[in-house]
Amino acid sequence: MADMPSPHGGSGALDELCDYAAAWRHHELRADVQQVAHLLEPLAGDAPPAPEILEQYQELAAFLELHLSKEENILFPALVSLAEAARAGQPRPPLPFPSVLNPVRLLESEHARLHELLDRLRVTTAGLALPVDAGENWRRAYDALAALDAALAEHVRFENEVLFPRALEVEQQLG
Ligand SMILES: [Fe+2]
Ligand SMILES: [Fe+2]
Repeated sequence: MADMPSPHGGSGALDELCDYAAAWRHHELRADVQQVAHLLEPLAGDAPPAPEILEQYQELAAFLELHLSKEENILFPALVSLAEAARAGQPRPPLPFPSVLNPVRLLESEHARLHELLDRLRVTTAGLALPVDAGENWRRAYDALAALDAALAEHVRFENEVLFPRALEVEQQLG
């Protein structure tokens, strides 16, 4: 993605950070999820732990999709309205929760759960170590899983360390 914006630190406006998180990061994550599913599903009939890997993967993918939807439908619209109020010099707008701390805490706990689901997959796949006789299809599936793992780590890092702290800061400034 050639023109991906690159907000540095917490200095970007809150609505631009949301745009970055949703439009770019979420788009990439969903593409990675589809790629892994596309590669893993035809392998589900292989010897164990293939069925277990697919099952654990599907649980992770379903949980992740719900998580992204919550961010896009609940948190990000609230952060955009906070950003607009801050820019216009207006007071804190009414939000569907007492503080952005409420959804932020929930989403942080979901990030921790995503880590757990990834850890479980790491155990089941022996750290994504391919058996010596693994075919090309398994190699590609594990490569795609590794890419998703990295994209998820970046998702969590960006939101926990940049977006959420910035959101709390802007809300506090609005009083
Ligand atoms: Fe996100
Ligand atoms: Fe998230």
